[in-house]
Amino acid sequence: MKRRLPISAYNWTTVIGATLALISLFMIVFLFIASVFIQRGSSYLGLIIYIVLPAFLVAGLILIPVGMLLKARRDRRTPAADLVWPVVDMNKDTHRNAFMIFSVGTTVFLLFSAIGSYEAFTFTESVEFCGTICHSVMRPEFVAYQNSPHANVRCVECHVGEGADWYMRSKLSGLYQVYSVTFHKYPTPIPTPVMNLRPARETCERCHWPSKFYGQKLTVKKYYLADEQNTPWEIHMAVKIGPSHRAAGLQEGIHWHINPDVAIEYKATDAQRQVIGWVRHTNRKTGEVTVFEDAASPIAKAQFDSLETRTMDCMDCHNRPSHNYMPPQFFLDHAMAAGLLPTSLPFMKKLATDMVAVEYGTTDSAMAGIRKGVEEFYRTGYPDVYEKNRALIAEAGVRIGQEYGKNIFPEMKVKWSAYPSNLGHMEFNGCFRCHDGNHATKEGKVISKDCNLCHTVYAQGNPSSLVMNPLDKPLEFRHPVEIGDAWKETVCTTCHTGLNP
Ligand code: HEC
Ligand code: HEC
Ligand code: HEC
Ligand code: HEC
Ligand code: HEC
Ligand code: HEC
Repeated sequence: MKRRLPISAYNWTTVIGATLALISLFMIVFLFIASVFIQRGSSYLGLIIYIVLPAFLVAGLILIPVGMLLKARRDRRTPAADLVWPVVDMNKDTHRNAFMIFSVGTTVFLLFSAIGSYEAFTFTESVEFCGTICHSVMRPEFVAYQNSPHANVRCVECHVGEGADWYMRSKLSGLYQVYSVTFHKYPTPIPTPVMNLRPARETCERCHWPSKFYGQKLTVKKYYLADEQNTPWEIHMAVKIGPSHRAAGLQEGIHWHINPDVAIEYKATDAQRQVIGWVRHTNRKTGEVTVFEDAASPIAKAQFDSLETRTMDCMDCHNRPSHNYMPPQFFLDHAMAAGLLPTSLPFMKKLATDMVAVEYGTTDSAMAGIRKGVEEFYRTGYPDVYEKNRALIAEAGVRIGQEYGKNIFPEMKVKWSAYPSNLGHMEFNGCFRCHDGNHATKEGKVISKDCNLCHTVYAQGNPSSLVMNPLDKPLEFRHPVEIGDAWKETVCTTCHTGLNP
C-alpha cells in the first residue's frame, strides 16, 4: 500500500494519540447531540462533554507530534549536529498530506475550543455545577438555597461575582476542593466563608443597593406553644427597615447602618463574629466619632490591636440570605401554620421538637426514627387518640421528617446551630451582639435595646383574643408564657436556643 503520511507518523505513540483524539471527538459530538435531545441533561453530562472529554482530546492531540518527533529522532540517519528538527518538504505528497491534516485539524479544533471553552465557562458557573456535582457535600446549601428568596440567583452571583481575578481565585480554590472532596479531606460542617467571601459591595449591591429605600414591613408571626393543646400565639409587628415616611430616606430605621454618611466599625473576638466587644460609629458628615465598649466583657488591651476592624455591611445582618437553616422551633411553627402538621393531636409541637432534636446518623435513619417515635408516643401515651387517628399520625411522622430534611443534614453535621443567623435576636444574639444594653460609651450612652427601636408590636396574643392597637400606638411586648421580667433583663438566647426552652 502506498504510504500517505511521513514515515515519522507510523509509530505506536502517534497511533494511540490519534485514536484517543478521534474517539474523544466522536464522543463529544455524540453526547452533545444527545444532550440537545434529552433537553436538560444532567450536570454530569456537562462535566463529561465540556471538561473530561476535551482533556482526553487534547492529550491525544499532544501525543501525535510527540510520537512523530521521537520516531524522527530514532530514525535519524544523519549525525545529530546537522539536523536537530525534522524537515518539512512540501514537494513530497506525504508531507503535504500531513500538513493539510494539521492545518485543517488545527483550525477546526480552535473553532470548536472557542465554543467549547465558552460552554465550559458557563457550565462551571451554573447552579447545577456548584450545587450538585459534589452532591453530598453541597446538599445542605443547595436545599436551603432552593427554599430561599434567592432560588433564582445563581451561586456564582454571590460567591464569585464579576471580573477575571475572582473567577481565577474561585477556580483555583475549586481545584483544592475537588481534591478535598475526592479524598474526603473536607471538614463537616463546611466552615462559612465569612473571611474570604467577596465583599457585599461587589456582590449583593449589584442587585440591591444601599441607597435603595425600603419602608416599614408589617409581618405576622404565628407560634404554637409546647403544651398539650399546641396553643397558638400571634405577634403582629411593623419592622422598621426604614423610617415611617419615604421622604426621610435612610435617616432612621434599621438600614440607617448602611447610610453612606454612617460608618459602623467593630471588632469581634471569634471567627464567626458572634462576640462583639468594641463598636465605633463615625458620622461621615460631621466627623463625630462615638466608641462603645462591652461593659460586661471588654476586649483585653493585648488582644485589641491584633483583631480585624470590620466595617459593617449587608452581610453583618443578612449573613444567611440563601442558606438559612431554620431552628426546629420555627420550622415546626411554620409547618403547623401552613397546615402541614395537625394541631389537633395533643403535644404535637413538643413531640415534633423532641423528635428532630435527636442526633441521627443519616437523613434516612432520621426519617425512620421520627416516624417510629411519633407513632410510639401516641400508641403508648394516648391509645384512644392513636386508634382514632392512625392515618393522621402516620402522615404527621412523614411530614416532620420532610421538614427535618429541609433544615437538618446529619451527614454534613449541618443544622441551625452550626451557622448562626444575625437577622434578629431570638435564637442567636444577632442584633443583640451590639444592642444588648451593655455596649456603652465612657459617658454612659448605650446602643439601645429598646423594644420599639427596631419594630413595634401592634397586635399580640391568642388569635381568639388578640389584643390590638393602632400602628402608631405600639403595645408593650407580652411574653407568650409567664416568665416575669426575664425577657427584659437578659438576652432571649439565655432560654431560646432554637428548641423549646
Ligand atoms: C444570595 C447570595 C448567595 C447565593 C445565591 C448562594 N450563596 Fe452560598 N453563601 C452566601 C453567603 C453570604 C454565605 C456565607 C454565610 C455566612 O457567612 O454565614 C454563603 C455560604 C456558603 C457555603 C459555606 C457553608 C455555609 O453554609 O455557610 C457554601 C458551601 C455555599 N454557600 C454554597 C453555595 C451553593 C452551592 C450555591 C448555589 C446552589 C450558593 N451557595 C448560592 C451567599 C449566597
Ligand atoms: C443577581 C441578583 C442578586 C444578588 C447578587 C443578590 N440578590 Fe438578594 N434578591 C434578589 C432577588 C431577585 C430577590 C427576590 C426579590 C423578591 O422576591 O421580590 C432578592 C431578595 C433579597 C432579600 C429579601 C428577602 C426576603 O425575605 O424577601 C434580601 C434580604 C436579600 N435579597 C439580600 C441579599 C444579600 C445579603 C445579597 C449578597 C450576599 C444578595 N441579596 C445578593 C437578587 C439578588
Ligand atoms: C456592630 C454593632 C451593631 C450591630 C450588630 C447592630 N447594630 Fe444597630 N446600631 C449600632 C450602633 C452603634 C447604632 C447607633 C447608636 C447611637 O449612636 O445611638 C445603631 C443604631 C441602630 C438603630 C437606630 C438607627 C436610628 O438612628 O434611627 C436601629 C433601628 C438599629 N440599630 C437596628 C439594628 C438591627 C435591627 C440590628 C440587627 C439586624 C442591628 N441594629 C445590629 C450598632 C449595631
Ligand atoms: C443592621 C442590619 C442590616 C444591615 C446592615 C442591612 N440590612 Fe437589610 N434588612 C435588615 C432587617 C432586620 C430587615 C427586615 C427583615 C425582615 O423583616 O424579614 C431587612 C430587610 C432587607 C430587605 C427586604 C426588604 C423588604 O421589604 O422585604 C432587603 C432587600 C435588604 N434588607 C437588603 C439589604 C442590603 C442589600 C444591605 C446592604 C447594602 C442590607 N440590607 C443591610 C437588616 C439589615
Ligand atoms: C436592634 C434592633 C432590635 C431590638 C432592640 C429588639 N428587636 Fe426584636 N427583632 C429585631 C429583628 C431584626 C427581628 C427579626 C424580624 C423579622 O424576622 O422579620 C426581631 C424579632 C423579634 C420577635 C419575633 C421573633 C421571631 O423571629 O419570630 C420578637 C417577639 C421580638 N423581636 C421581640 C423583641 C423584644 C421584646 C425586644 C425588647 C427586649 C426586642 N425585640 C428588641 C430587632 C430588634
Ligand atoms: C427565662 C427564659 C426565657 C427568656 C429570657 C425568653 N423566653 Fe421566650 N419563651 C420561654 C419559654 C419557656 C417559652 C415557652 C416555650 C413553648 O411553649 O414553646 C417561650 C416562648 C416564646 C415564644 C413562642 C415561641 C414558640 O415557638 O412557641 C416567643 C415568640 C418568645 N418566647 C419570644 C421571646 C423573646 C423575643 C425573648 C427576648 C426578648 C424571650 N422570649 C426571652 C422562655 C424565655
